[in-house]
Amino acid sequence: MPERPNIPNGNTNLETDMVRKIETETPGSPVRFGIVGAGGIARAYAEALQKTPTATLVAIADINVSAAQSLAEPLGIPAYASAQELIKGQPKLEAVVVCTPPATHPDICCTLLHAGIDVLCEKPLSIDMDGVLQMVEAAEESGSLLTMASKFRCVADVQKAKELLDSGAIGDVVHFENVFTSYVNMAGRWNSKPGISGGGVLIDNGTHSLDLARYFLGPIDELQVIEGKRTQDLAVEETVAIFFHSRSGVMGSIDLSWTIRKEVPYYIQIHGSEGTISLGWRESKWKRHDGNWETFGPGYDKVGAFAAQIENFAKAILGEEPLLITMEDGVASVRAIEAAYESLSRNPWVAIKGLDWRMARSGDTLTKTMR
Ligand SMILES: NC(=O)c1ccc[n+]([C@@H]2O[C@H](COP(=O)([O-])OP(=O)(O)OC[C@H]3O[C@@H](n4cnc5c(N)ncnc54)[C@H](O)[C@@H]3O)[C@@H](O)[C@H]2O)c1
Repeated sequence: MPERPNIPNGNTNLETDMVRKIETETPGSPVRFGIVGAGGIARAYAEALQKTPTATLVAIADINVSAAQSLAEPLGIPAYASAQELIKGQPKLEAVVVCTPPATHPDICCTLLHAGIDVLCEKPLSIDMDGVLQMVEAAEESGSLLTMASKFRCVADVQKAKELLDSGAIGDVVHFENVFTSYVNMAGRWNSKPGISGGGVLIDNGTHSLDLARYFLGPIDELQVIEGKRTQDLAVEETVAIFFHSRSGVMGSIDLSWTIRKEVPYYIQIHGSEGTISLGWRESKWKRHDGNWETFGPGYDKVGAFAAQIENFAKAILGEEPLLITMEDGVASVRAIEAAYESLSRNPWVAIKGLDWRMARSGDTLTKTMR
């Protein structure tokens, strides 16, 4: 393992993030990656790693070793039964993508970080603040990089929208809307087991939403969450609405569900005093109030976003680029979700009392009697 300079990471100081450059044994060669957790999302990473010239996938680990083998064998690379075995078996490993269920993230990430391996951890970084702070401490002590997967930040259309917003194209930003709803039967999956997942759709999809809101608008100062009807017989929430205010005064609303499917072509709309930006699955567009819609970008490309994220992480390891998603972003994301659950546990409703209207028509006159 090459010696690593002990430079703290995860702050928003881009220069600090850029300074860290490890000495690979063969300068100019791609960064050697492993994957821990060989389930659904690991397949997208394995595909994305094939498309990223600055990275090469060298091994895969999973406590279900046959899952690791089924992903590793077609690629001609070894499989291991744990993160520890991966570290022992691959002394030249430089980086790992952690794709295991959320409650396992702190232990696995701390083991890897302490071994001097840079970590890109799937969202949510942790199901609670204790876990994420342990991870930050491990990264700071070891000088290894820690970043949270946030694929939407790596979508070209999202980056273009951020440029438009920052250039003042739609004036003063007033309202942010996001919809991530689609039907998924979560019965029997770890996603609906709160000890493993940390909660339901709020932590699962909401981690993406609140990170995107922070990316576009800056810090989120306050939020409240209301829950919709449960239909899937799960121990966790399956439909929620989040309302928030950013520090910059923007009002936001986010709809999340594993049950309803809102057929909206644009998953984010940002409304300003002079126009609107709409980010869509198939195309994105923007307009000024007095102008016509202008389309931009190809929409959402999942593997392309994963590849762009790996590319940025690999270049940050090589000291060529700042990390797109800093540790501070990751911690802010866990903190926002914790606040969202605190809100969910409170009752934000004000009952409407004393208004029992009896409405009766007599001729053309509507009479109302208040009891
Ligand atoms: N960014 C996205 O769009 C996206 C989408 C889906 C899932 N995710 C995230 O990716 C992570 C994995 O989700 P998934 O849907 O791929 O889950 P999954 O259940 O399909 O796969 C998880 C794998 O991790 C393995 N595993 C569990 N504990 C382990 C341990 N201690 N060590 C090694 N392997 C272990 C399991 O055996 C399983 O093969 C979660 O954090 C999830 O929130 C992100």
